[in-house]
Amino acid sequence: ISLRAHNTFGIDKKASLFFEAHRPEDVLEAIRQANLLGKPLFVLGGGSNVLLVEDLDALVLKICIEGIEQIEEDADSVLLKVGAGVIWQDLVVTSLQLGLSGLENLSLIPGTVGAAPMQNIGAYGVELQSVFDHLEAIEIATKQSLTVDKATCAFGYRDSIFKNEWKGRYVITRVVFRLSKKQRPVTSYGDIERTLAEMGASSPSPENISKAVIKIRQQKLPDPKILGNAGSFFKNPSIPQAQFSLLKERYPKIPGFPSGPLVKVPAAWLIEQAGWKGKRFGRVGVHENQPLVLVNYGEAEGSEIVALSKKIQTDIREKFGISLEREVNLVGRDDVARP
Ligand code: EPU
Repeated sequence: ISLRAHNTFGIDKKASLFFEAHRPEDVLEAIRQANLLGKPLFVLGGGSNVLLVEDLDALVLKICIEGIEQIEEDADSVLLKVGAGVIWQDLVVTSLQLGLSGLENLSLIPGTVGAAPMQNIGAYGVELQSVFDHLEAIEIATKQSLTVDKATCAFGYRDSIFKNEWKGRYVITRVVFRLSKKQRPVTSYGDIERTLAEMGASSPSPENISKAVIKIRQQKLPDPKILGNAGSFFKNPSIPQAQFSLLKERYPKIPGFPSGPLVKVPAAWLIEQAGWKGKRFGRVGVHENQPLVLVNYGEAEGSEIVALSKKIQTDIREKFGISLEREVNLVGRDDVARP
């Protein structure tokens, strides 16, 4: 079957087998089937952070576990247990309707709830880890269910244990969030303050912050339904202070944000400065409003996007001495779990 409708880059690659899991038991059944057929298992959420580079001779398992359930409440907060297949934005909307705070800055991020912890999704000053309590998963090799607490997830910038030691070994079935009953506005990101003011918002309520974030995202980020993309293609690099100071002498306008002992430099600035912004090469290109986003103009192959990304990486290394790390996961034969 074609995976085209299952990845936001809109790449037309095929899976030899395709399964939807609506309940955790279906995940167990899929693992059994994969074992029987001798195929590896590849788990797919919303497909918004993957780049398919070849057909997958695997059992592709799409997680469709639904449900948003309140499981606990205390004076300040509520625990919500959410199916891994729930669309992230649907969870954000529900949390706002329930009068809960914590997800508003993460409005409109594409993808599913189950994929969110994998890379500790983040935007506009908030990361998933600030609202994460624990998750439920199934270990593929043993078919055992387990709960995974926050410390074990080892969250970092666009990073978790699921991208490292545990890569390809677990299927996340549900995620439990702790959301606040009190408003806890995070407006540190300059664009939010500015947009709230433009909107004439009277307060930074969760609803208003959500509206502001949606407005900012719609201005900068292409809608994957219209133009294939997977959000930021690269991570923002962090470099030593000494290297940053040298770059600052050459490029007085270079932005930098303290990040522990390092300085985080916007990859978008580097790519724009190097002249790539808005450039189109055949069926692929660099987005005109946000150069961190690579786009598929139509029938592109994953390999064309990879080739463009490598040219950008080489150029940024030559011009600034900085290595850009991919944020999007390439999916080919090496990236599937063998149960
Ligand atoms: N910039 C430019 N030119 C541009 C756009 C941006 O030079 O055309 C520079 C500016 O200095 C700007 C800075 O980049 O101030 C930051 O831009 P932006 O606010 O768009 O954020 P970003 O660092 O490019 C990150 C995340 C996004 C997230 C936004 C908002 C990563 C890899 N990306 O992008 O996440 O939405 O911040 O918090 O950390 C994603 O991960 O897919 C994603 C879209």
